[in-house]
Amino acid sequence: MTHILLTGGAGYIGSHTYLALVQAGYRPVILDDYSNSHPAVLARLQQISGQPVLHARGDVADVALVRGLLEQYQVAAVVHFAAFKAVGESVEQPLKYFDNNITGMLRLMQAMEQAGCRRLVFSSSATVYGDPDSVPITEAFPLRHSSPYGCTKVVCEEMIASMLGANPAWRAGVLRYFNPVGAHASGLIGENPQGVPNNLMPYVAQVAIGRRQHLNIWGDDYPTPDGTGLRDYIHVADLAEGHVAALDTLLRDQRSFTVNLGTGRGHSVLEVVAAFAAASGRPVPYQICPRRPGDIAQCYADPSLARELLGWRASRTLADMCADSWRWQSANPEGYV
Ligand code: WQD
Repeated sequence: MTHILLTGGAGYIGSHTYLALVQAGYRPVILDDYSNSHPAVLARLQQISGQPVLHARGDVADVALVRGLLEQYQVAAVVHFAAFKAVGESVEQPLKYFDNNITGMLRLMQAMEQAGCRRLVFSSSATVYGDPDSVPITEAFPLRHSSPYGCTKVVCEEMIASMLGANPAWRAGVLRYFNPVGAHASGLIGENPQGVPNNLMPYVAQVAIGRRQHLNIWGDDYPTPDGTGLRDYIHVADLAEGHVAALDTLLRDQRSFTVNLGTGRGHSVLEVVAAFAAASGRPVPYQICPRRPGDIAQCYADPSLARELLGWRASRTLADMCADSWRWQSANPEGYV
């Protein structure tokens, strides 16, 4: 039985990756402090997977706790999800982000080194590219973070690179997510933002279900086909399968890599609104508002390296993303309660 530790495994990406790992024959163990996730997800995961969920409650920065888990389960690799990820909040509270995201990474790697577990998959983000000079974006593009949140991802990637350079016994897979959206096809787990959603898809879903009056579209004067922002939305189930492919490669080939996890296709805000209205059968009223500070016009991946190295590619469409997101939202109007 190959145990994999998922830090932040009760969160949106972590919980979907948990299911993909079980499906692939791994035995995942969830570590979460529930600061940005809900314990109710554990029962949902057991219901879907049909097996008890191995989990521990605690902070990824608790070296003794993490080392104990790594040794108890003889963990083969760690997938590190545990981090704060709200761009706007990071601008308002940079020290909270540096402490949680960077110190957490440092303590995790120290615990891994002490336990002799030196296989790491890191949840990074396309935000490390900042505002790219062109699209599609390849992994060779310069790193230009544009927020404290983005800075933490760049620094964590640097920490990994330094460890790989210092100790050849380490192997790591860095995964740069584009825009994860959607939900598990069962509708039992999904994106569960606390408070007012920052991201587009959960906000649109809450408008469709009637929790919000209308969507504010932050700018329609961008240099894009319809003037609204263009992003590479990727179904969270595709993203989860990308993590399985990354672990398979890391454990089999014993080589490190950094790859984009995206579809290679951009969709505008207005396209997402239309697709969600079609999938839900509900109107999605919106108002055009001024641009959101820090937003960029276009961001979508060249995903060819992930296909070449991991044998992985995204397959689900925007219609699938909206249909699955709607099934989760309509079955759980208030999220996990
Ligand atoms: C998408 C588009 C907005 C909300 C961020 C992080 C990134 C990753 C994903 C963590 C943009 C528009 C949005 C709304 C809108 N997070 N929009 N009204 O900003 O591309 O990426 O989340 O890893 O790191 O930077 O995602 O969903 O916020 O915005 O018009 O109420 O939707 O302007 O064009 P973003 P988003």
